[in-house]
Amino acid sequence: MKPKLLDTFCKAGGAGYGYSLAGFDVVGIDIQLQPHYPFPFILGDALDILSRMIAGETFLASDGKRYGLKDFSAIHASPPCQAYSSATKNPEKHPDLYKPTINILQKSGLPYVCENVIGAPYNHGIFLCGSMFNLSHDGEWLQRHRNFETSFMLFQPQCQHQQKRPITVTGKSFVKEVREYEHSRQAPFALAEKLMGINWMTHNELANAIPPAYTQWLGCEVITRLTQHAPDKWESAPSTGIFPPLSLSTSQSESTPPTCG
Ligand SMILES: C[S@@+](CC[C@H](N)C(=O)[O-])C[C@H]1O[C@@H](n2cnc3c(N)ncnc32)[C@H](O)[C@@H]1O
Repeated sequence: MKPKLLDTFCKAGGAGYGYSLAGFDVVGIDIQLQPHYPFPFILGDALDILSRMIAGETFLASDGKRYGLKDFSAIHASPPCQAYSSATKNPEKHPDLYKPTINILQKSGLPYVCENVIGAPYNHGIFLCGSMFNLSHDGEWLQRHRNFETSFMLFQPQCQHQQKRPITVTGKSFVKEVREYEHSRQAPFALAEKLMGINWMTHNELANAIPPAYTQWLGCEVITRLTQHAPDKWESAPSTGIFPPLSLSTSQSESTPPTCG
């Protein structure tokens, strides 16, 4: 049997896709309809749904099944980052959902991962970088630092930054050819898709996504811990590595994706 992961604030599923590669069945929640989300989907306010799941309620998903907290082995959360992002013009105008999200994740009693931009009010965590996963293509590479606050301990992998400036994937980053700006180096959409490891999203969805390589690695770490507690219950092999796979000599599209075990 595969463990299930509840992917809250899921958008079009960059994070969710990585967890599915790690061996989870994934169910997403978002406050907006997500027609490109590749897994069963529940429409609604993630904080409201999570608190009602904690109280025992179940919710109907797009696959026609009802899901409650007991169905899940772990939760991922990607609350909106605009309140803390240096790229936001008026951060105070955006809802600050980070702390309320952590509070509810803690109440769930499940292992959790809460992702956000550097600068969000996280308590602790590790940050991940595209250079740790060789997210590169045609000599360009992706940095995309994101913090991951987890309910379990993880070691901080080291960046392997390349000397060339990294590509920035934001809502404004899609130009015809790679272009240098004072604060960023921007790319055509096709290159951004390759660097992110995502090929099913719109511009806006891609600009908001987590590279699946990050959550594939995190998902393997969660599954390792689940199998340590119940070795006969889950079908996925446990991860044996502490650090993300690293092979800087090949581009992501040419290299073997990270696997558990
Ligand atoms: C940064 S995006 C998530 C990106 C996603 N993790 C990925 O990797 O593709 C944040 C999402 O949170 C959703 N959102 C905002 N407030 C929400 C709420 N209260 N409940 C559920 N989803 C919410 C937004 O609609 C948006 O799709």
